[in-house]
Amino acid sequence: MDIHVVDHPLVAHKLTTLRDAGTDSPTFRRLTDELVTLLTYEATRDVRVEDVTVQTPVSAAKGVRLAPPKPLIVPILRAGLGMLEGMQHLLPTAEVGFLGMIRNEETLEPATYAERLPDNLTGRQAYVLDPMLATGGTLSAAVEFLVQRGCSAITAICLLAAPEGIARVEADLADVDVPVSLVVAAVDERLNEHGYIVPGLGDAGDRLYGVV
Ligand code: URA
Repeated sequence: MDIHVVDHPLVAHKLTTLRDAGTDSPTFRRLTDELVTLLTYEATRDVRVEDVTVQTPVSAAKGVRLAPPKPLIVPILRAGLGMLEGMQHLLPTAEVGFLGMIRNEETLEPATYAERLPDNLTGRQAYVLDPMLATGGTLSAAVEFLVQRGCSAITAICLLAAPEGIARVEADLADVDVPVSLVVAAVDERLNEHGYIVPGLGDAGDRLYGVV
């Protein structure tokens, strides 16, 4: 897996405020939105484009536009939903499919409870949105699912990752033969015994949407 930790002062600044337990939900949602837009800029460096020529008021100009098939954004419900708009600011024509995954808080393994994706994923570049790459179980399952459905490249965009989660995803996906990459704002120290990232930012879904 190709891993890109985005090293940028604006990313670090916004992430620091996200981590702060005193940041309220509206501010947390706004900063998530802004941070994801910055991460999207890096995550779409390989988005497929095709050559076009347009007519400026002065002359013809060669350029590019996004090539079909449309990129696919896949937020992992619930917390990944808080990242969707931030990505759509830069990729407004992408299609969006949803995967609902929850981790069992005892086994820490993921279970899929909802799936709403376009029928044909063949050849799609997919962008998986999940703020916290913690144990890695959810991300591995989501990537395996999208590969089985025919996606040709998968990029995960996360706010934070734990080294243990990255190691697990790399091991789980060792035999996957499509390119998989991770774009993340920071890799933290470790997971604690409850599967939370340390120092992390707490439960991203709760901080976005409230405790359920
Ligand atoms: N999910 C979260 O929301 N936070 C963590 O620290 C780990 C998993």
